[in-house]
Amino acid sequence: MTDRLDTIDRAKVASAYHAMSFIESGMSVGLGTGSTAAWLVKLLGARKHIEGLDIQCTSTSEVTEALALEVGLPTQSLEEADWLDLTIDGADEFDPLLTLIKGAGGALLREKIVATASDRMIVISDLSKQVDVLGAFPLPVEVVRFGWQATQGMIGDVLGEADVAEEHIERRMRNGEPYVTDEGHYILDLHLKRIADVDALALALLAVPGVVETGLFIDIADTVVLGASSGEAQLLRADEAPVIVDDLDEARLQAFLDHIFAT
Ligand code: 5RP
Repeated sequence: MTDRLDTIDRAKVASAYHAMSFIESGMSVGLGTGSTAAWLVKLLGARKHIEGLDIQCTSTSEVTEALALEVGLPTQSLEEADWLDLTIDGADEFDPLLTLIKGAGGALLREKIVATASDRMIVISDLSKQVDVLGAFPLPVEVVRFGWQATQGMIGDVLGEADVAEEHIERRMRNGEPYVTDEGHYILDLHLKRIADVDALALALLAVPGVVETGLFIDIADTVVLGASSGEAQLLRADEAPVIVDDLDEARLQAFLDHIFAT
């Protein structure tokens, strides 16, 4: 792999490259958001240019939509697509059941809608996101702006009853202003340290007036492609032994990267 990439990006590229093997011409593909998903989008753009890959893409954020168009991928809205063959997206944490925390990039609502309007969701990730128990990463919760303080108070009450190790809530800020999602909502980041019962917490949070969606993705992802800086990857499925993928075609990947760095 090119020496223009650091160790972290090599792992992200490996994950995205191997996940691309699930994509073939004719498919409708959901594109995730975040730095790992951005590598996927760039690699797909290179594959379209070099190999003529013919797919339709649906983006999970305005940022991803702009990148997809920039690299020459045809895009369609979810309304136009109706249903997708698969969605490939990153994650902030995943556990052995492939339950995810997502939303560091603020796109969790569209990401969940797109992923669940797909035959399958594949997660692209590296070792840093793999945990035994979710919660070390703050859990994003998307809330409507109207009465958000009241919603935050009720979320606090939920956390008081939940089996979590910490109960700190922060409204997400960006450049000194409240962060606003593509759908015009705020995000509350829940610092919990450890979530003992994700199903119970997700249900309780969704019952709070003003909560639009949580970053807990339960029973949505079926595979994690865990990339390593060596170029290898592991395919992880819940309750199955990992499958090692070590058939990276160096020349093919280098051609994709050369195209990406040249454009
Ligand atoms: C965006 C997300 C991202 O998928 C998640 O934050 C992972 O991003 P990265 O690949 O940059 O670590 O959920 O809302």
